[in-house]
Amino acid sequence: MILKNLELINFRNYDTLTLNLNKNINIIYGNNGEGKTNILESIYVLALTKSHRALHNADLIQKEKENALIKGTILNDLSYNLEIALTKTKKQVRIDNNQVTKLGDYISKMNIIIFYSEDLDLIRGFPSYRRKYLNLELSQISKNYYNTVNDYNKLLKIRNDYLKKINNKEEINQSYFDVLTDYLVEKSIFIYQMREKYINKLNEICPNIYKDITGDSNFLIKYLPTINLQNQDKEMIKAILKKELTNNLEKEIKLKTTLFGPHRDDFDFCLNNQSLKTYGSQGQQRVAVLTLKLAEIQIFKDYKKNNPIILLDDVFSELDHQKKNNLLKYIDSGMQVIITTTDLDNIDEKIKKNAKLIQVKDGKIVEEVN
Ligand SMILES: Nc1ncnc2c1ncn2[C@@H]1O[C@H](COP(=O)(O)OP(=O)(O)O)[C@@H](O)[C@H]1O
Ligand SMILES: [Mg+2]
Repeated sequence: MILKNLELINFRNYDTLTLNLNKNINIIYGNNGEGKTNILESIYVLALTKSHRALHNADLIQKEKENALIKGTILNDLSYNLEIALTKTKKQVRIDNNQVTKLGDYISKMNIIIFYSEDLDLIRGFPSYRRKYLNLELSQISKNYYNTVNDYNKLLKIRNDYLKKINNKEEINQSYFDVLTDYLVEKSIFIYQMREKYINKLNEICPNIYKDITGDSNFLIKYLPTINLQNQDKEMIKAILKKELTNNLEKEIKLKTTLFGPHRDDFDFCLNNQSLKTYGSQGQQRVAVLTLKLAEIQIFKDYKKNNPIILLDDVFSELDHQKKNNLLKYIDSGMQVIITTTDLDNIDEKIKKNAKLIQVKDGKIVEEVN
């Protein structure tokens, strides 16, 4: 799929922007702080309805303005218009001018993969960061997943609120609590199975990519759920999770929170069975993230029968020559790629020759060369 054009109103430092994009490579260049990442961010928001770097959507609205608009035309088998309208407290999403109320229906419409330097948090950061990653990827693949996680989070909040209200087992309304727990367990199974399948799929692809880039074999991503899932079917997962929740009820009441379930999941990047989080060099961590993202491209192609749109935010300055070439080898010419850089010299002549060059300065396009 490709993003044919992008229109912004009052988004970050852009009053207005109209941008036509090349179906292959686009390079946005300019000095620091001019608005390169803002463009990629707007594309990210257009696809996923949330920003990868803003805490609140309100931050995306230009200072002293009340609302912002992002519009884009996607060309897939069909062509359709996506639109996100933001106010400080609300967000409206539209497909072809029709308002969409279920975000799951929207999010699966535009598939993107972003590479940016904070990606290293995927390895070094908190488990919540990795869960967020899994949710984003799987939501783009399956709207059922998106809806299930939403339901799960609502149920989890109700269960946790209930645990906060009571002081001991005797105070529990057992039939109510059991129904709640059963619902939660029911939703967990699908989330667990989707995540396990996704990580298994990553492990079919990642070791080869990692080896290709570094020469090292034995790269593996380990899924670390709070219960043992391996080779378990639905009924077994259900039984194990229910047992853990039942056996640990007193502890849960004491800590006033649900201790088992996919909201506690984590995964780990390993090389030769050692965690890269603890033992990896910065270089190894970088390649691991790169590997993960490149594998995603393959997974999107397989699941969605379509090329995702690739966003590369200032990644070329951080990679050595060989890794740059490897990255570009995997991102074959059939895909739309949108790159930002402060320095055009960081990018191979071969790539620049066929690219659309877009220079930005202070929230405006100052030059476009096709
Ligand atoms: N809500 C906002 N309103 C107006 N300007 C903003 C807003 N948020 C960020 N900016 C401006 O955007 C610029 C940063 O843009 P960015 O795309 O991150 O730069 P870069 O080109 O380095 O990637 C800064 O000048 C910042 O002041
Ligand atoms: Mg930037």
